[in-house]
Amino acid sequence: MQNITTNLKKLLYLWRRSQVPVKQPIKISRIDNLIIFLVCILISVISSYKLLLISPLNFADIFSWFWTFTEILISCGVLILVSKKENPTISSRQIFLIITLLLAVQVTKLSLASAISPLSMIIPPALIISQGMGSITSLAWVSIASLIWPDPEIIINNNLFFILLVCASIVSLLGGRIRSRAQLLQLSIFVPIGSLLSQWIFIGKDKISFFNKQDFVLANGDIFSDSVLLAIAMLFTILFIPIFESIFGLLTKARLLELADKEKPLIRRLSLEAPGTFEHTLLICGLAEEATRMIGGDIDLIKTGALYHDVGKLHAPNWFIENQDGSKNPHDELDDPIKSAEVLQAHVDEGLKFARKNRLPKPIANFIPEHQGTLKMGYFFQKAKEKNLDINEYYFRYKGPIPQSKETAILMLADGCEAALRAMNINASDKEALKTISNIIYSRKKDGQLDDSNLSKGEIFLIKRSFLNVWKRIRHRRIQYPTNKNNTFS
Ligand SMILES: [Fe+2]
Ligand SMILES: [Fe+2]
Repeated sequence: MQNITTNLKKLLYLWRRSQVPVKQPIKISRIDNLIIFLVCILISVISSYKLLLISPLNFADIFSWFWTFTEILISCGVLILVSKKENPTISSRQIFLIITLLLAVQVTKLSLASAISPLSMIIPPALIISQGMGSITSLAWVSIASLIWPDPEIIINNNLFFILLVCASIVSLLGGRIRSRAQLLQLSIFVPIGSLLSQWIFIGKDKISFFNKQDFVLANGDIFSDSVLLAIAMLFTILFIPIFESIFGLLTKARLLELADKEKPLIRRLSLEAPGTFEHTLLICGLAEEATRMIGGDIDLIKTGALYHDVGKLHAPNWFIENQDGSKNPHDELDDPIKSAEVLQAHVDEGLKFARKNRLPKPIANFIPEHQGTLKMGYFFQKAKEKNLDINEYYFRYKGPIPQSKETAILMLADGCEAALRAMNINASDKEALKTISNIIYSRKKDGQLDDSNLSKGEIFLIKRSFLNVWKRIRHRRIQYPTNKNNTFS
Protein backbone atom coordinates (compact mmCIF):
# COMPACT_ATOMS: atom_id res chain seq x y z
CA MET A 1 0.00 0.00 0.00
CA GLN A 2 2.83 2.34 0.95
CA ASN A 3 4.55 1.55 -2.34
CA ILE A 4 1.43 2.51 -4.30
CA THR A 5 1.17 5.81 -2.40
CA THR A 6 4.86 6.58 -3.05
CA ASN A 7 4.50 5.76 -6.73
CA LEU A 8 1.35 7.89 -6.98
CA LYS A 9 3.20 10.78 -5.33
CA LYS A 10 6.07 10.36 -7.82
CA LEU A 11 3.64 10.34 -10.74
CA LEU A 12 1.89 13.44 -9.38
CA TYR A 13 5.28 15.15 -9.02
CA LEU A 14 6.29 14.23 -12.59
CA TRP A 15 2.93 15.45 -13.93
CA ARG A 16 3.25 18.75 -12.07
CA ARG A 17 6.79 19.21 -13.42
CA SER A 18 5.61 18.60 -16.97
CA GLN A 19 3.07 21.38 -16.52
CA VAL A 20 5.74 23.96 -15.66
CA PRO A 21 6.51 26.07 -18.73
CA VAL A 22 10.06 25.65 -20.01
CA LYS A 23 10.35 29.39 -20.48
CA GLN A 24 8.29 32.27 -19.21
CA PRO A 25 5.99 33.36 -22.06
CA ILE A 26 6.33 36.88 -23.40
CA LYS A 27 3.32 39.06 -22.65
CA ILE A 28 1.55 40.32 -25.75
CA SER A 29 -0.08 43.74 -25.50
CA ARG A 30 -3.84 44.19 -25.92
CA ILE A 31 -3.42 46.20 -29.12
CA ASP A 32 -1.25 43.46 -30.67
CA ASN A 33 -3.79 40.83 -29.60
CA LEU A 34 -6.57 42.90 -31.18
CA ILE A 35 -4.65 43.31 -34.46
CA ILE A 36 -3.90 39.56 -34.56
CA PHE A 37 -7.58 38.78 -33.89
CA LEU A 38 -8.69 41.15 -36.67
CA VAL A 39 -6.32 39.50 -39.17
CA CYS A 40 -7.75 36.10 -38.15
CA ILE A 41 -11.28 37.45 -38.78
CA LEU A 42 -10.11 38.74 -42.18
CA ILE A 43 -8.68 35.31 -43.06
CA SER A 44 -11.99 33.67 -42.04
CA VAL A 45 -14.03 36.15 -44.12
CA ILE A 46 -11.80 35.81 -47.20
CA SER A 47 -11.81 32.04 -46.95
CA SER A 48 -15.57 31.67 -46.52
CA TYR A 49 -17.38 34.60 -48.17
CA LYS A 50 -17.95 32.73 -51.44
CA LEU A 51 -20.42 30.50 -49.60
CA LEU A 52 -22.67 33.58 -49.26
CA LEU A 53 -22.62 34.39 -52.98
CA ILE A 54 -25.13 31.67 -53.80
CA SER A 55 -28.57 32.90 -54.79
CA PRO A 56 -31.19 32.38 -53.57
CA LEU A 57 -29.59 32.24 -50.14
CA ASN A 58 -31.36 30.00 -47.66
CA PHE A 59 -30.86 29.31 -43.96
CA ALA A 60 -28.81 26.16 -44.62
CA ASP A 61 -26.34 28.20 -46.73
CA ILE A 62 -25.97 30.83 -44.01
CA PHE A 63 -25.46 28.09 -41.43
CA SER A 64 -22.87 26.43 -43.68
CA TRP A 65 -21.03 29.79 -44.07
CA PHE A 66 -21.13 30.42 -40.32
CA TRP A 67 -19.80 26.91 -39.65
CA THR A 68 -16.90 27.38 -42.12
CA PHE A 69 -16.17 30.86 -40.72
CA THR A 70 -16.01 29.53 -37.14
CA GLU A 71 -13.93 26.53 -38.21
CA ILE A 72 -11.32 28.79 -39.87
CA LEU A 73 -11.25 31.17 -36.91
CA ILE A 74 -10.69 28.24 -34.53
CA SER A 75 -7.95 26.89 -36.85
CA CYS A 76 -6.16 30.26 -36.66
CA GLY A 77 -6.42 30.11 -32.85
CA VAL A 78 -5.03 26.55 -32.81
CA LEU A 79 -2.14 27.67 -35.04
CA ILE A 80 -1.27 30.51 -32.64
CA LEU A 81 -1.47 28.14 -29.64
CA VAL A 82 0.82 25.58 -31.33
CA SER A 83 3.35 28.30 -32.19
CA LYS A 84 3.27 29.56 -28.58
CA LYS A 85 3.72 26.03 -27.25
CA GLU A 86 6.74 25.42 -29.49
CA ASN A 87 8.19 28.91 -28.92
CA PRO A 88 7.21 30.14 -25.44
CA THR A 89 9.14 33.37 -26.05
CA ILE A 90 7.42 34.07 -29.38
CA SER A 91 6.78 37.78 -29.92
CA SER A 92 3.65 39.43 -31.32
CA ARG A 93 5.64 40.33 -34.47
CA GLN A 94 6.33 36.65 -35.10
CA ILE A 95 2.68 35.63 -34.55
CA PHE A 96 1.76 38.45 -36.89
CA LEU A 97 4.15 36.98 -39.50
CA ILE A 98 2.55 33.52 -39.26
CA ILE A 99 -1.02 34.74 -39.70
CA THR A 100 -0.06 37.34 -42.34
CA LEU A 101 1.52 34.53 -44.39
CA LEU A 102 -1.74 32.61 -43.96
CA LEU A 103 -3.69 35.66 -45.13
CA ALA A 104 -1.33 36.12 -48.11
CA VAL A 105 -1.82 32.49 -49.13
CA GLN A 106 -5.61 32.80 -48.90
CA VAL A 107 -5.57 35.98 -51.02
CA THR A 108 -3.23 34.36 -53.56
CA LYS A 109 -5.48 31.31 -53.77
CA LEU A 110 -8.45 33.56 -54.39
CA SER A 111 -6.84 35.71 -57.06
CA LEU A 112 -4.27 33.43 -58.72
CA ALA A 113 -5.56 29.90 -58.11
CA SER A 114 -5.99 29.33 -61.82
CA ALA A 115 -2.43 30.43 -62.64
CA ILE A 116 -0.33 29.19 -59.73
CA SER A 117 0.01 25.66 -58.42
CA PRO A 118 -0.79 25.19 -54.69
CA LEU A 119 2.75 23.84 -54.26
CA SER A 120 4.25 27.28 -54.97
CA MET A 121 1.77 28.98 -52.64
CA ILE A 122 2.26 26.81 -49.57
CA ILE A 123 5.81 25.41 -49.61
CA PRO A 124 7.83 28.71 -49.62
CA PRO A 125 6.03 30.19 -46.56
CA ALA A 126 6.44 26.81 -44.82
CA LEU A 127 10.21 27.20 -45.33
CA ILE A 128 10.21 30.64 -43.66
CA ILE A 129 8.13 29.42 -40.70
CA SER A 130 10.14 26.23 -40.16
CA GLN A 131 13.40 28.20 -40.23
CA GLY A 132 12.22 30.90 -37.87
CA MET A 133 9.74 29.16 -35.58
CA GLY A 134 10.36 25.44 -35.82
CA SER A 135 9.01 22.36 -37.56
CA ILE A 136 5.85 21.82 -35.46
CA THR A 137 4.57 25.36 -36.05
CA SER A 138 5.35 24.97 -39.73
CA LEU A 139 3.52 21.62 -39.95
CA ALA A 140 0.47 23.16 -38.21
CA TRP A 141 0.61 26.12 -40.62
CA VAL A 142 0.83 23.80 -43.65
CA SER A 143 -2.16 21.71 -42.55
CA ILE A 144 -4.31 24.81 -41.92
CA ALA A 145 -3.20 26.60 -45.10
CA SER A 146 -3.97 23.45 -47.12
CA LEU A 147 -7.36 22.91 -45.50
CA ILE A 148 -8.76 26.42 -45.73
CA TRP A 149 -9.33 26.45 -49.45
CA PRO A 150 -11.44 29.55 -50.06
CA ASP A 151 -13.10 28.70 -53.32
CA PRO A 152 -15.31 25.60 -53.06
CA GLU A 153 -15.37 25.37 -56.86
CA ILE A 154 -11.63 24.73 -57.05
CA ILE A 155 -11.06 21.04 -56.70
CA ILE A 156 -7.49 19.95 -56.22
CA ASN A 157 -6.47 16.62 -57.58
CA ASN A 158 -6.18 14.17 -54.66
CA ASN A 159 -2.74 13.08 -55.80
CA LEU A 160 -1.58 16.70 -56.04
CA PHE A 161 -2.92 17.34 -52.54
CA PHE A 162 -0.98 14.32 -51.28
CA ILE A 163 2.23 15.48 -53.05
CA LEU A 164 1.71 18.97 -51.62
CA LEU A 165 1.41 17.62 -48.08
CA VAL A 166 4.46 15.36 -48.44
CA CYS A 167 6.67 18.10 -49.96
CA ALA A 168 5.50 20.72 -47.44
CA SER A 169 6.07 18.28 -44.55
CA ILE A 170 9.60 17.51 -45.78
CA VAL A 171 10.35 21.24 -46.04
CA SER A 172 8.87 21.84 -42.56
CA LEU A 173 10.82 19.03 -40.93
CA LEU A 174 14.15 19.73 -42.66
CA GLY A 175 13.72 23.52 -42.51
CA GLY A 176 13.69 23.39 -38.71
CA ARG A 177 17.00 21.51 -38.64
CA ILE A 178 18.99 23.01 -41.50
CA ARG A 179 22.08 24.84 -40.23
CA SER A 180 23.46 26.59 -43.30
CA ARG A 181 22.32 28.60 -46.29
CA ALA A 182 24.01 26.06 -48.61
CA GLN A 183 21.74 23.29 -47.29
CA LEU A 184 18.76 25.58 -47.86
CA LEU A 185 19.82 25.98 -51.47
CA GLN A 186 20.05 22.21 -51.85
CA LEU A 187 16.53 21.89 -50.41
CA SER A 188 15.20 24.46 -52.89
CA ILE A 189 16.57 22.37 -55.75
CA PHE A 190 15.75 18.85 -54.55
CA VAL A 191 12.16 19.53 -53.41
CA PRO A 192 11.04 20.87 -56.85
CA ILE A 193 12.81 17.94 -58.55
CA GLY A 194 11.04 15.55 -56.15
CA SER A 195 7.68 17.23 -56.80
CA LEU A 196 8.26 17.01 -60.57
CA LEU A 197 9.04 13.30 -60.41
CA SER A 198 6.17 12.47 -58.05
CA GLN A 199 3.69 14.49 -60.13
CA TRP A 200 4.98 12.72 -63.23
CA ILE A 201 4.40 9.33 -61.58
CA PHE A 202 1.08 10.07 -59.80
CA ILE A 203 -0.59 12.65 -62.05
CA GLY A 204 0.54 11.68 -65.53
CA LYS A 205 3.07 12.09 -68.27
CA ASP A 206 0.54 13.92 -70.47
CA LYS A 207 0.65 16.93 -68.13
CA ILE A 208 4.27 17.62 -68.90
CA SER A 209 5.45 19.91 -71.70
CA PHE A 210 8.89 21.39 -71.68
CA PHE A 211 9.49 24.44 -73.85
CA ASN A 212 6.51 24.75 -76.14
CA LYS A 213 4.34 26.92 -73.88
CA GLN A 214 4.16 30.65 -74.17
CA ASP A 215 3.38 31.22 -70.47
CA PHE A 216 6.20 28.93 -69.49
CA VAL A 217 6.27 29.48 -65.71
CA LEU A 218 2.67 30.44 -64.98
CA ALA A 219 1.07 27.47 -66.68
CA ASN A 220 -0.89 25.84 -63.87
CA GLY A 221 -1.49 22.18 -64.51
CA ASP A 222 1.71 21.72 -66.43
CA ILE A 223 3.86 19.85 -63.97
CA PHE A 224 7.20 21.08 -65.35
CA SER A 225 6.08 24.73 -65.12
CA ASP A 226 4.74 24.13 -61.61
CA SER A 227 8.07 22.71 -60.46
CA VAL A 228 10.08 25.54 -62.06
CA LEU A 229 7.83 28.10 -60.36
CA LEU A 230 8.27 26.27 -57.05
CA ALA A 231 12.07 26.34 -57.44
CA ILE A 232 12.03 30.08 -58.27
CA ALA A 233 9.70 30.84 -55.32
CA MET A 234 11.93 28.85 -52.93
CA LEU A 235 15.10 30.56 -54.15
CA PHE A 236 13.50 33.99 -53.67
CA THR A 237 12.35 32.94 -50.20
CA ILE A 238 15.94 32.01 -49.26
CA LEU A 239 17.09 35.41 -50.53
CA PHE A 240 14.49 37.16 -48.38
CA ILE A 241 14.97 35.09 -45.20
CA PRO A 242 17.68 37.47 -43.80
CA ILE A 243 15.23 40.37 -44.26
CA PHE A 244 12.53 38.43 -42.38
CA GLU A 245 15.10 37.67 -39.68
CA SER A 246 15.79 41.33 -39.01
CA ILE A 247 12.19 42.60 -39.39
CA PHE A 248 10.50 39.89 -37.33
CA GLY A 249 13.40 39.01 -35.01
CA LEU A 250 13.53 35.42 -36.28
CA LEU A 251 16.37 33.31 -34.97
CA THR A 252 17.25 30.76 -37.62
CA LYS A 253 20.01 28.17 -37.21
CA ALA A 254 22.00 29.89 -39.99
CA ARG A 255 21.73 33.25 -38.14
CA LEU A 256 22.89 31.59 -34.89
CA LEU A 257 25.92 30.15 -36.64
CA GLU A 258 26.69 33.51 -38.26
CA LEU A 259 26.56 35.19 -34.85
CA ALA A 260 28.84 32.51 -33.40
CA ASP A 261 31.57 33.51 -35.87
CA LYS A 262 34.54 34.65 -33.77
CA GLU A 263 35.45 37.20 -36.45
CA LYS A 264 32.33 39.24 -35.58
CA PRO A 265 33.48 42.75 -34.54
CA LEU A 266 32.13 42.51 -30.97
CA ILE A 267 33.83 39.15 -30.34
CA ARG A 268 37.07 40.41 -31.96
CA ARG A 269 36.94 43.42 -29.59
CA LEU A 270 36.45 41.06 -26.64
CA SER A 271 39.48 38.99 -27.64
CA LEU A 272 41.67 42.11 -28.05
CA GLU A 273 40.49 44.33 -25.19
CA ALA A 274 39.52 41.68 -22.62
CA PRO A 275 41.63 38.59 -23.45
CA GLY A 276 41.01 37.02 -20.04
CA THR A 277 37.24 37.29 -20.47
CA PHE A 278 37.57 35.87 -24.00
CA GLU A 279 39.49 32.85 -22.67
CA HIS A 280 36.88 32.38 -19.92
CA THR A 281 34.14 32.61 -22.58
CA LEU A 282 35.73 29.90 -24.71
CA LEU A 283 36.04 27.56 -21.76
CA ILE A 284 32.42 28.18 -20.78
CA CYS A 285 31.35 27.46 -24.37
CA GLY A 286 32.98 24.02 -24.05
CA LEU A 287 31.34 23.26 -20.69
CA ALA A 288 27.90 24.55 -21.69
CA GLU A 289 27.92 22.82 -25.09
CA GLU A 290 28.74 19.43 -23.57
CA ALA A 291 26.05 19.78 -20.88
CA THR A 292 23.43 20.91 -23.39
CA ARG A 293 24.23 17.98 -25.66
CA MET A 294 23.78 15.63 -22.68
CA ILE A 295 20.29 16.90 -21.84
CA GLY A 296 19.19 17.35 -25.46
CA GLY A 297 18.94 21.17 -25.44
CA ASP A 298 19.61 23.70 -28.19
CA ILE A 299 23.39 23.49 -28.74
CA ASP A 300 23.60 26.27 -31.35
CA LEU A 301 21.67 28.64 -29.08
CA ILE A 302 23.87 28.03 -26.03
CA LYS A 303 27.12 28.21 -28.02
CA THR A 304 26.17 31.64 -29.37
CA GLY A 305 24.66 32.82 -26.07
CA ALA A 306 27.81 31.79 -24.18
CA LEU A 307 29.97 33.73 -26.62
CA TYR A 308 28.13 36.99 -25.87
CA HIS A 309 27.29 36.49 -22.16
CA ASP A 310 30.09 38.68 -20.80
CA VAL A 311 30.52 41.25 -23.60
CA GLY A 312 29.45 43.90 -21.06
CA LYS A 313 32.89 43.53 -19.45
CA LEU A 314 34.23 45.52 -22.40
CA HIS A 315 33.08 48.69 -20.63
CA ALA A 316 35.84 48.26 -18.03
CA PRO A 317 37.91 45.11 -18.73
CA ASN A 318 40.58 45.64 -16.07
CA TRP A 319 37.98 45.71 -13.28
CA PHE A 320 37.50 41.97 -13.73
CA ILE A 321 40.02 39.60 -12.22
CA GLU A 322 40.56 37.48 -15.35
CA ASN A 323 41.90 40.56 -17.21
CA GLN A 324 44.21 41.76 -14.44
CA ASP A 325 47.91 41.05 -14.89
CA GLY A 326 48.51 40.90 -11.13
CA SER A 327 49.96 44.42 -10.77
CA LYS A 328 47.09 46.40 -9.28
CA ASN A 329 43.43 45.83 -8.63
CA PRO A 330 41.24 48.94 -9.21
CA HIS A 331 38.79 47.63 -6.60
CA ASP A 332 41.51 47.90 -3.92
CA GLU A 333 42.22 51.50 -4.93
CA LEU A 334 38.49 52.30 -4.89
CA ASP A 335 38.05 50.65 -1.49
CA ASP A 336 34.27 50.94 -1.64
CA PRO A 337 32.38 47.60 -1.76
CA ILE A 338 29.11 49.26 -2.86
CA LYS A 339 30.78 50.99 -5.84
CA SER A 340 32.57 47.75 -6.72
CA ALA A 341 29.22 45.91 -6.72
CA GLU A 342 27.90 48.60 -9.07
CA VAL A 343 30.80 47.95 -11.48
CA LEU A 344 29.94 44.24 -11.45
CA GLN A 345 26.23 44.93 -12.13
CA ALA A 346 27.30 47.28 -14.94
CA HIS A 347 28.74 44.34 -16.91
CA VAL A 348 25.13 43.13 -17.26
CA ASP A 349 23.60 46.54 -18.02
CA GLU A 350 26.34 47.47 -20.49
CA GLY A 351 26.10 44.00 -22.04
CA LEU A 352 22.43 44.60 -22.78
CA LYS A 353 23.36 47.95 -24.36
CA PHE A 354 25.96 46.20 -26.56
CA ALA A 355 23.30 43.63 -27.50
CA ARG A 356 20.90 46.40 -28.58
CA LYS A 357 23.59 48.26 -30.51
CA ASN A 358 24.67 45.09 -32.33
CA ARG A 359 21.06 44.00 -32.93
CA LEU A 360 21.51 40.67 -31.15
CA PRO A 361 18.27 38.62 -31.17
CA LYS A 362 16.38 38.52 -27.86
CA PRO A 363 17.07 34.83 -27.07
CA ILE A 364 20.81 35.62 -27.26
CA ALA A 365 20.52 38.88 -25.29
CA ASN A 366 18.65 36.93 -22.55
CA PHE A 367 21.89 35.11 -21.68
CA ILE A 368 23.42 38.41 -20.50
CA PRO A 369 21.24 39.11 -17.43
CA GLU A 370 20.14 35.51 -16.82
CA HIS A 371 23.65 34.04 -16.49
CA GLN A 372 24.09 36.17 -13.36
CA GLY A 373 20.47 35.83 -12.21
CA THR A 374 20.11 37.37 -8.75
CA LEU A 375 23.38 35.89 -7.48
CA LYS A 376 25.05 37.45 -4.48
CA MET A 377 28.37 39.24 -5.02
CA GLY A 378 29.71 37.38 -1.99
CA TYR A 379 33.24 38.83 -1.96
CA PHE A 380 32.14 42.47 -1.83
CA PHE A 381 29.26 41.73 0.54
CA GLN A 382 31.77 40.18 2.91
CA LYS A 383 34.04 43.24 2.55
CA ALA A 384 31.11 45.53 3.38
CA LYS A 385 30.39 43.44 6.47
CA GLU A 386 34.05 43.62 7.50
CA LYS A 387 33.85 47.40 7.21
CA ASN A 388 30.79 47.26 9.46
CA LEU A 389 28.69 48.97 6.83
CA ASP A 390 24.98 48.75 7.66
CA ILE A 391 23.94 47.65 4.22
CA ASN A 392 21.19 45.48 2.84
CA GLU A 393 22.16 42.28 1.02
CA TYR A 394 19.89 43.47 -1.84
CA TYR A 395 22.57 45.96 -3.01
CA PHE A 396 25.01 43.09 -3.41
CA ARG A 397 22.83 40.95 -5.62
CA TYR A 398 22.56 41.11 -9.41
CA LYS A 399 19.25 42.49 -10.60
CA GLY A 400 18.25 39.31 -12.47
CA PRO A 401 16.04 37.84 -13.78
CA ILE A 402 16.97 34.31 -12.76
CA PRO A 403 17.44 31.87 -15.68
CA GLN A 404 14.18 31.38 -17.56
CA SER A 405 15.32 28.49 -19.74
CA LYS A 406 17.41 25.34 -19.43
CA GLU A 407 20.07 26.87 -21.68
CA THR A 408 20.57 30.06 -19.64
CA ALA A 409 20.57 27.97 -16.43
CA ILE A 410 23.31 25.71 -17.83
CA LEU A 411 25.33 28.82 -18.71
CA MET A 412 24.97 30.11 -15.15
CA LEU A 413 26.23 26.77 -13.78
CA ALA A 414 29.10 26.64 -16.30
CA ASP A 415 30.01 30.24 -15.39
CA GLY A 416 30.17 29.29 -11.73
CA CYS A 417 32.18 26.09 -12.27
CA GLU A 418 34.66 27.40 -14.84
CA ALA A 419 36.91 29.40 -12.51
CA ALA A 420 36.82 26.71 -9.81
CA LEU A 421 37.73 23.95 -12.28
CA ARG A 422 40.49 26.02 -13.85
CA ALA A 423 41.98 26.69 -10.43
CA MET A 424 41.97 23.00 -9.47
CA ASN A 425 45.21 21.17 -8.99
CA ILE A 426 46.29 19.15 -12.00
CA ASN A 427 46.63 16.09 -9.77
CA ALA A 428 43.13 16.40 -8.30
CA SER A 429 41.03 13.26 -8.56
CA ASP A 430 37.75 12.97 -10.46
CA LYS A 431 35.98 12.64 -7.13
CA GLU A 432 37.38 16.01 -5.93
CA ALA A 433 36.41 17.71 -9.20
CA LEU A 434 32.89 16.26 -9.02
CA LYS A 435 32.58 17.44 -5.42
CA THR A 436 33.58 20.99 -6.43
CA ILE A 437 31.05 20.97 -9.29
CA SER A 438 28.30 19.53 -7.06
CA ASN A 439 28.92 22.15 -4.35
CA ILE A 440 28.65 25.05 -6.82
CA ILE A 441 25.49 23.66 -8.44
CA TYR A 442 23.94 22.92 -5.04
CA SER A 443 24.60 26.50 -3.85
CA ARG A 444 22.91 27.93 -7.00
CA LYS A 445 19.94 25.59 -6.52
CA LYS A 446 19.61 26.41 -2.82
CA ASP A 447 19.72 30.12 -3.65
CA GLY A 448 16.63 29.63 -5.88
CA GLN A 449 18.49 30.51 -9.08
CA LEU A 450 17.23 27.42 -10.93
CA ASP A 451 13.57 27.76 -9.89
CA ASP A 452 12.29 28.98 -13.28
CA SER A 453 14.60 26.93 -15.48
CA ASN A 454 12.64 23.65 -15.27
CA LEU A 455 15.82 21.59 -14.98
CA SER A 456 14.97 18.19 -13.52
CA LYS A 457 17.10 16.33 -10.96
CA GLY A 458 18.16 13.88 -13.68
CA GLU A 459 19.23 16.72 -15.96
CA ILE A 460 21.25 18.35 -13.17
CA PHE A 461 22.98 15.00 -12.63
CA LEU A 462 23.82 14.83 -16.35
CA ILE A 463 25.11 18.41 -16.29
CA LYS A 464 27.48 17.54 -13.42
CA ARG A 465 28.81 14.49 -15.30
CA SER A 466 29.33 16.49 -18.49
CA PHE A 467 31.22 19.27 -16.63
CA LEU A 468 33.41 16.54 -15.14
CA ASN A 469 34.08 15.09 -18.62
CA VAL A 470 35.14 18.51 -19.93
CA TRP A 471 37.40 19.02 -16.93
CA LYS A 472 39.03 15.65 -17.61
CA ARG A 473 39.71 16.78 -21.17
CA ILE A 474 41.22 20.08 -19.96
CA ARG A 475 43.40 18.25 -17.43
CA HIS A 476 44.54 15.86 -20.13
CA ARG A 477 45.66 18.79 -22.29
CA ARG A 478 47.58 20.33 -19.39
CA ILE A 479 49.62 17.19 -18.69
CA GLN A 480 53.15 17.73 -20.02
CA TYR A 481 54.43 14.77 -21.94
CA PRO A 482 58.11 13.98 -21.47
CA THR A 483 60.24 14.45 -24.59
CA ASN A 484 62.64 11.65 -25.46
CA LYS A 485 66.39 11.91 -25.16
CA ASN A 486 67.08 12.92 -28.73
CA ASN A 487 64.42 15.64 -28.55
CA THR A 488 62.66 14.08 -31.49
CA PHE A 489 58.92 13.83 -31.61
CA SER A 490 56.89 11.06 -33.05
FE1 LIG B 1 29.10 37.58 -16.07
FE1 LIG C 1 31.09 34.77 -17.33
